[in-house]
Amino acid sequence: MKDNTLELFAKEVEEGLSQSPKRLSSKWFYDKKGDELFVQIMNMPEYYLTKCEEEIFANQTERLTSSLIAGFDDFDLFELGAGDGSKTMHLLEALKSLNFTYRPIDISLNAIEQLEKRVAANIPEIQVEGIQDEYFEALSKLSGKRPKVILFMGSNIGNMLDDRANEFLLKLSATMQSGDRLLLGVDLIKDESIILPAYNDAQGITSEFNLNLLDRINRELGGDFNREMFSHTPQYDQDKGIAYSYITSLAEQDVSIKALDRTFHFQKEEKVFTEVSRKYDDRALQAITNHTSLVLKDKIFDSKSYFCDAIFEKE
Ligand code: AVJ
Repeated sequence: MKDNTLELFAKEVEEGLSQSPKRLSSKWFYDKKGDELFVQIMNMPEYYLTKCEEEIFANQTERLTSSLIAGFDDFDLFELGAGDGSKTMHLLEALKSLNFTYRPIDISLNAIEQLEKRVAANIPEIQVEGIQDEYFEALSKLSGKRPKVILFMGSNIGNMLDDRANEFLLKLSATMQSGDRLLLGVDLIKDESIILPAYNDAQGITSEFNLNLLDRINRELGGDFNREMFSHTPQYDQDKGIAYSYITSLAEQDVSIKALDRTFHFQKEEKVFTEVSRKYDDRALQAITNHTSLVLKDKIFDSKSYFCDAIFEKE
């Protein structure tokens, strides 16, 4: 695989900072430092998403497995975005006597290798074949063989607005055969007093995570962002059910980026939009699965009903 990440990063930074309002994509959060910060986010008290989904996987494993694999005795279990596997481990434990291959897909070879090691060490009887690739590449290469169960957890879908999420699920559904299952983990619409702190924690880890994007531009593209002159400013739109993250310029200033041979001007209080975290209700779920031939079979909630693992079957 040819790695053109740096060129793509440069191109998107240039485009995003030339627009008005300025924007940078959340997909660039995840360099080595960003991966570490995201692990810290998952462990912080305000970030309920991971804990709620973990609780579902720990306490409702039987319901999960029966919805996901009813009728299958030989299948592939795909996971989009390998993560560190702690939630999936509960499911793997419950499935370990069955005939299946666990196939986590991730663009990061490192993430895949870590996960393979973790599964081998904890549940050696499970057959694991990690795939380092783009999701759709990986899935279409393996389509039409065994029945598929696909996991897309953690409300990762929420980084896309509904139109893009719908496009994503249309493509995903096109790689599935009739009867294949999808588990989609989604965070639910609820009060700002619960959602906003998850994106604005007391320790400032989320702020570090967001501002790491400026450091990454400095490191990889020779930027001269002064971190002290920017701040992390999240917002939650309760009517829409969307959390937004921004980086706000604290002064009027110029920032130059060597690799782009350009300077960008920032007004005082100017916001750079960096991330959406969509929250869902039935209508939003309907909107993103429209025209996909994915039929909702089950919805499994944590004890506080903050989070939902929705299970779909391809028609
Ligand atoms: C990994 C996309 C689910 O939106 O909640 C966490 C990323 N951003 N804190 C989310 C994130 C800020 C996270 N997802």
